[in-house]
Amino acid sequence: MSRRGLILGLLMVSVVFLVQCRRDPSPSNCDTCATYGTPYNLKVPSGFPQPNTPADNPMTEEGIKLGRFLFYEKALSDDQTISCASCHLQERAFTDATPTSVGTRGIFGRRKAMPLFNLAFHDNFFWDGRVLTLEEQSIHPILDTLEFDNDLNTVIQRLSANPIYPPMFAAAFGDDQITEKRIGKAIAQFERTMISANSKFDRVIRLQTGEQFTPLEQRGYELFTSDFDPNGGFGGDCFHCHGERETQYLFGSFGRDLQFVNNGLKAVYTDEGRAEVTNDPADVGKFKVPSVRNVEFSFPYMHDGSIPNLDSLIGFYNFGGHKHVNIDPNMKAAGIGRNWSEGQKQALAAFLRTLTDYEFLQDTAFSNPFEE
Ligand code: HEC
Ligand code: HEC
Repeated sequence: MSRRGLILGLLMVSVVFLVQCRRDPSPSNCDTCATYGTPYNLKVPSGFPQPNTPADNPMTEEGIKLGRFLFYEKALSDDQTISCASCHLQERAFTDATPTSVGTRGIFGRRKAMPLFNLAFHDNFFWDGRVLTLEEQSIHPILDTLEFDNDLNTVIQRLSANPIYPPMFAAAFGDDQITEKRIGKAIAQFERTMISANSKFDRVIRLQTGEQFTPLEQRGYELFTSDFDPNGGFGGDCFHCHGERETQYLFGSFGRDLQFVNNGLKAVYTDEGRAEVTNDPADVGKFKVPSVRNVEFSFPYMHDGSIPNLDSLIGFYNFGGHKHVNIDPNMKAAGIGRNWSEGQKQALAAFLRTLTDYEFLQDTAFSNPFEE
């Protein structure tokens, strides 16, 4: 063989070798294959904790894109009429507009859908915290009889038969195999990008951009963050549960230390919340503390959607809560009431509205990709 032939031969062998490597066909490790896709660098806002991204699900542009399509994909539901986004509406901070969500075939659920943002910083999911990873959480609605009421074989068959999905799975995971694990991973990747950190509150308090609260908002902030109103009577005490135990900047449960709390919503709980997971009577009526970010749009509120709007929310905390045996000591006004003036209520509402993140609510990166 001539020298040129040898070099050419070697070149061809190495090209073939490189292509082979790139298309590593071993499916056993390709679920965890980090070599595929374009790495995505999740920007963690200053003051936020580290994200919960597991080592075997690195974020990629392609994985996030696939997750976004799956989030809006109706083929996931039994009768192909609803997607995740049917109960998690972007304009409502990805919660539902109805007290308890309607599932596939019009079945009524028993709990209010939860708002979805900053999930990358939570370490438990659902009102009772029964699931510990986003990867696992994403599969639950598919099987839940009150949600998609479907089975994974059907979902996998439908996605495989749809020409858009096999190439997207290949781009995200190295080959076009559609598996339960990969569906969960892609949706989790998309959800981790849903970060809300640009409300007026963030700009004034966390980022100190020089923007100011109005006097009414400032007064509301004072009530939110005090046990007792400096002007006399009860403060809101809100920060004890919606903030303090993570960092002073991050009102809302980031799931780290703050776990499950009974805020006296009910005198008698038909939905026992955390106790359904632990079977501990001391956990009856305890629920994951929801974030108060974007609260202006995430109504109706609470695990059962029983509080219809911001006025009635403030009405509930003014009432102080029912004296349930498990009520948290931070509900200091339980059974007494806070006896707030109209001015105090308005101030608190004005402050709560500063927690709206319009950029997040309108971000086209999270909107329906089928309507693009
Ligand atoms: C039929 C309405 C409905 C559909 C469809 C639905 N969800 Fe939900 N979602 C809910 C309800 C209700 C809860 C609270 C359930 C509970 O606590 O038991 C919830 C809770 C969640 C949570 C927990 C949030 C937290 O802070 O703990 C996540 C994440 C979530 N859903 C994502 C999804 C994804 C992803 C899909 C699609 C695969 C989806 N949901 C489909 C109604 C729905
Ligand atoms: C003792 C802890 C505690 C205190 C104090 C507290 N909350 Fe809550 N809050 C909770 C819990 C727990 C829930 C969910 C309860 C449920 O669903 O049954 C909740 C729910 C909410 C919700 C509903 C969010 C949603 O997505 O459904 C809002 C809004 C809220 N609280 C605002 C406030 C405000 C404002 C204050 C102060 C006036 C306050 N909270 C004081 C624990 C507390």
